[in-house]
Amino acid sequence: MDFTHAPPSAACRIGWQSPTPVSEGHRFNGFIETAGSRLQAHGLELTAFFEPDRAPARGLPAEAMPSPLEIAFLPNIRAQVTAMDRCFRRAIDDVGYPAPFHFAFASKANTAEEIVRSTLAAGAHHEMSSDVDVEIVRRMIRAGLLPEDRMVIANGFKGRGSAYARNLLALRGEHPRVVPVLEDASELRGFAGRGVEFDFGIRCKRPREADGAGDRDSRFGVDAAEVERLAAGIEGTPGSRFVLLHAMFGSAGQGEKEFVHALEPGLDLYARLDRNHPSLRFFDFGGGVPGRTTLDDDFDYDRFARLLLKRALDVCTRHGARPPALIGEFGRYTVSEHAAHLFRVIAAKPNDAGIPWYLVDGSIMTSFPDTWALGEHFICLPLNHLDRPFQRVRLGGITCDRDDVYPPRGSTAPLFLPLLSAAELDETPLYVGFFSVGAYQEMLGGVRGSKHCVLPEATEILIDDDENGGFRCDIVPGHTTEDVLHNLGYGRTARAGAPRTAAPVALG
Ligand SMILES: Cc1ncc(COP(=O)(O)O)c(C=O)c1O
Repeated sequence: MDFTHAPPSAACRIGWQSPTPVSEGHRFNGFIETAGSRLQAHGLELTAFFEPDRAPARGLPAEAMPSPLEIAFLPNIRAQVTAMDRCFRRAIDDVGYPAPFHFAFASKANTAEEIVRSTLAAGAHHEMSSDVDVEIVRRMIRAGLLPEDRMVIANGFKGRGSAYARNLLALRGEHPRVVPVLEDASELRGFAGRGVEFDFGIRCKRPREADGAGDRDSRFGVDAAEVERLAAGIEGTPGSRFVLLHAMFGSAGQGEKEFVHALEPGLDLYARLDRNHPSLRFFDFGGGVPGRTTLDDDFDYDRFARLLLKRALDVCTRHGARPPALIGEFGRYTVSEHAAHLFRVIAAKPNDAGIPWYLVDGSIMTSFPDTWALGEHFICLPLNHLDRPFQRVRLGGITCDRDDVYPPRGSTAPLFLPLLSAAELDETPLYVGFFSVGAYQEMLGGVRGSKHCVLPEATEILIDDDENGGFRCDIVPGHTTEDVLHNLGYGRTARAGAPRTAAPVALG
């Protein structure tokens, strides 16, 4: 995440905010609601994963799942892609915008195979950032999921001679629309003179404006003068065309108007380049479009699309330029909502100094690193006992780390959960869910790695629609003790991944 983060709001709405029970049928947002005393997300009663006999649902596992449990609801990803496409289509009609919009999935937000497959199945173009991504793209091409009309936008540093640059050259032989986005003048040398035809993009830095905004300090992209030089360099290279200007200036945390305002210098540069660069036709506004990670997120995607198209049209008209086709690289927007992480509350602990603790059976800080690293908030709600009185609590993870808490340190966001005594908790478990945690958290925390306080990776359940109107669930087992020990080097000699002794330098 390379843009400047607006500081997360310390007082946002992350859950229920009152001591009264939640009323039957209450809707928390577009995909979370109550059904009786239990919580449903994406139409699924979530405690059914732990107590399948209580609420059997078509296609859900017949066996009780362990807690903690990660849930990936894949239809939501396809729905997000389709919704944004529709949103821009409506805006194009409203504004009379004369060029198309292209949705690209910024795969760094969640690079798991099932996620990438889901975005491609929904028709998204693909954005990537490093060498290993090239192999992922290759596999998707072989699987028939990346047909020739889809763009593969290659961001990330690709210096001359790097494995990434070399692999992109090879990939171009397998796919006609690989678009390397250059963010440093030196990168072109890795591609020029290799006899391979490429359409290139150039990433520009946000110039300093009168109000002091801008990002001259960024290590990404080049300034306007360098864009001109690089564009000339591309056009002087046989078989190369300059087709795309990448200007990632907006960021999550901005409103629609501020986001579009931040993009204006990029649009302005695009319009000035248009005259001398006839092959230029895409304006890529990068990532930063938010997902709904708290209950008061109200970014209006329709308004954003309309404002952006209007601004692009105005700027281009002012310069007498052709309006560009727009590309958005949507990371957090695409994948935030599809994932939830469920825990069991294993103890209630009074706190003489303030709000009582509820302790959960996993780690908050390793599951959602942005909670402690950036003070980010996510939706947190009970899965059962919603008909009980609530009390304000803080959640503690099971590690011995003082930062393994929720809400994050320094936050004033209230978190209310059902009021249960220790004896009641023993008798009828209380489960809580963190929602909208699908972007970056898993990638930052590491997938199937060993974690803080040697906590094992949780079991994950991948849920998709089946052909008969029900669900299909794939269970990815969590780590066993043996897996964790092996990861950390214990007993490695007996298994794959054993260290080998390095051959020493021969002296004399
Ligand atoms: C070049 C580029 N594009 C897209 C994204 C995705 O951003 P977001 O997840 O905010 O949509 C990022 C994130 O760092 C990025 O660096």
